[in-house]
Parts: sequence; C-alpha cells; structure tokens
Amino acid sequence: TNQTLILGPVLRYAGDPLRGPWQDAVRVDSAGGVLIEDGQIIEVGSGADLQKAHPQADLHRYGAGHLIAPGFVDAHVHYPQTAIIASWGKRLIDWLNSYTFPEEMRLSDPEYADQIAGRYLDLTLAHGTTTAASYCTIHPHSADALFEAAAARGQRIVAGKTCMDRNAPEGLRDTAQSAYDDSKALIGKWHGQGRASYAITPRFSPTSTPDQLAALGALWAEHPDCLMQTHLSEQTDEIAWVKELFPQARDYLDTYEAHGLLGERGLYGHAIHLEPREIDRLKDCGAALVHCPTSNTFIGSGLFDMAGLTARGIPVGLATDTGGGSSFSMLRTMAAAYEVGQLRGTPLHAAQLIWLATAGSARSLHLGDKIGSLSTGMEADLTILNLSSTAAIAQRADQASDIWESLFATIMMGDDRAIADVWVNGQKRP
Ligand code: GUN
Ligand code: FE
Repeated sequence: TNQTLILGPVLRYAGDPLRGPWQDAVRVDSAGGVLIEDGQIIEVGSGADLQKAHPQADLHRYGAGHLIAPGFVDAHVHYPQTAIIASWGKRLIDWLNSYTFPEEMRLSDPEYADQIAGRYLDLTLAHGTTTAASYCTIHPHSADALFEAAAARGQRIVAGKTCMDRNAPEGLRDTAQSAYDDSKALIGKWHGQGRASYAITPRFSPTSTPDQLAALGALWAEHPDCLMQTHLSEQTDEIAWVKELFPQARDYLDTYEAHGLLGERGLYGHAIHLEPREIDRLKDCGAALVHCPTSNTFIGSGLFDMAGLTARGIPVGLATDTGGGSSFSMLRTMAAAYEVGQLRGTPLHAAQLIWLATAGSARSLHLGDKIGSLSTGMEADLTILNLSSTAAIAQRADQASDIWESLFATIMMGDDRAIADVWVNGQKRP
C-alpha cells in the first residue's frame, strides 16, 4: 500500500471549545502521528504506535516547535477581489463602487478570471488555507475558473456565481431568469464533482430585486443540498438602504426569509448589527454566520458578537472576506478575531481561535465530516505550523510555558513564514 505517516505534535478536537471549557474540546498530542492513504486520514494516534504498526509507510517528521493542524478553512471570500485587497479609505457601499465593481468587471475576460483564480489559490495555499467558500463574479465562467483551478490543485472548494440584477453597473448585472438559469447550469456542472460544492450566491439584498431573490429561493428549494451564501447586516448605512429598498420587510434577514433564502444551509457573512428577531430566527433555522474580523475593522463595519451568538448555539465560521478583508492569512484573521473579542470584553483562547479557523469554519459549510479536523475518515488536508518562524516569534516561544502560549504568539505575529508545509488531499505541496 501507499501510506504516509506524519509524525509530530498533532492538534486534536473532541468537541466545540466555544461551548464549554476549551480544555475539554481541544488538545495537542506532543508525540502524535497521522496516517494517510489515498487522500484520507486512516488513523490518528501515538506516533510510536503508528510507526510500529505501519513500518512501510513513508515517514515525514515535524519536530517539537511545530504543530500539525487541519488545513485552514476560509468560510467567506471573494476571489475576484484578490488584486484590489488593501484599497484605501472607503466604507462598504463606496468601496464596492470605487474598487470592487470595476475589478469584478475585469473578470468578464475569461483569461483574466483564470489568472486570478490560480493566483488566489496559490497565495492562500501559501498561507495554509486548503479550502475556501468563495463568491465569484456575475460571469458563469468566473465560477468555472475557480472550480477548475481548485480541481487542478486537488482542493476542496465551495463557490458560486454571484447574482446581482440592480444597483450594480452595466456589465455586472444579470436578471432574475439568467441568474436562475446560469446558477442551475453551474450546479449541474460542478456540485458534487470531485471535491467541489456549489453555493447559490445572491450578493446581498441591495443588489437583487425581490424577483431575483425569489428565483434563487426557488432554485435552492430544488437543490436543498447546496449551500446558499450571502451578506447580512454588515454596516448601518447598508441596513438603512435595505429598509428603503424593502419597505415591507421586518428587518434585513426578512428580505431573505420572505424569498426562500433562510435555511440550515444558509451562510450569512458579517451579521454584526442584528435585531433580536433576526438572532432568534437564525437560531431556529440552524443557519450559520461567518465572522470576518479583518474586513469588519478595515471597512469600519463594527464588532461581531462572537460570545453572545455562540452562546445561543448559532454556528459561526471564520473568514478573511478577501478583498474587503485586509489579509489572505487565517493566522492574521484569528489575531483580528482575538482583538475584536478584546474590544467586546470577551477574548478568545488560542485553542478556540484555531478551532474556529478549521473545524468551526468547516462545520459552518456543512463539511465538518470531511475537512477541518484530524481524525479517521477525514480528507487529508493538513497545515503544519512552525511556531518559531521569525526572530520575534521565536524569542517569545522560547519563554512560553506551554504550546498554547507558543501558538498564540504565532497567531498574533505569524504570516506565511509560519506555514512549514501544506498537505492537500494527502499530497505535500511542493
Ligand atoms: N456586501 C456586498 N458585497 C460585498 C463584498 O464584496 N464585500 C463585503 N465585505 N461586503 C459586501
Ligand atoms: Fe464578503
């Protein structure tokens, strides 16, 4: 057989560290091992025992000072915004009109879309991200571009053609009917093909007519195993605009709910300024929220209530929101989630942060049985962290009394230099 055995400190999960003491849910086996065959994790346990039982396996050792973690899962990104990340000085609506829409227009060229899709995946793999859930542009070929680029790299991917039929420039608008038809065709082409899954993707209520939202709600009802991703209550100006555009709606979430776009497989990005009714409905439906902390500070949106929403039992994923977010790095994103927690008086522990960036995000995408943790039967996507990747981090790690202090220094100060190796589908990236 063709087995690979990866030895070193292994991050293990036994539950949700945001519900109950994190120590019960997350631990590190300092002399652990992960046995891989045909892209799958066959066994996780004591490194010595696994080596004895599988002497023929191809050995890869990572020393103390490393951490074998699940590949990072970025639960909300816009790959077409790769080249305009870190654009200065605007808030949400102006930022969309000034930077985002002109760049998304450039992806009308299929060659440019292919180029950006490949660039996005290579940049994020270098930062330890093995799966993303991405918005595309309104162009169906922009979804093909990302699905093809992910398949070429063996990556699990979630993506959908973005739908907009108003309040977007000429050239970036579809219609209710074409959004339905094009999304349906893409579902047929990609959903469940290899490691791909499709997310029906109305951008957000301001850029869809009620007719388009209803058409996409009908499509979701026909394909209930697809995810549906959109934005919710990111900025106060946006919420006021939604009120004007949908005078009948009880609140922002109701603009989705009224059109069949609220459900368990719904993924709602940002969700900062929520009304009590919205939180109750999200909870009742089992819908997931996605926290995008670098975006929320960069665009000036506000402080997500991680503690309050997770205490309600609402699943939350973590995401960069590239390119509204200011980094491709899930380490930087964990750091920002820590800082937002501090500003709300509820700091997250390193164990909770890395769980959110892996299992938490995977669960929000309903992929928790395939990716996001290291256990038997999971797909073999691994990110190996070097916990002393720079002089600044190494001198702090030297003084750490346990691996959590050391990991926290890498979370707060680490970048792509902290990514020692990335394994995708059982293969080490060159
Ligand atoms: N709301 C609608 N579209 C977008 C987008 O592209 N980025 C962010 N951050 N918010 C949005
Ligand atoms: Fe977004």
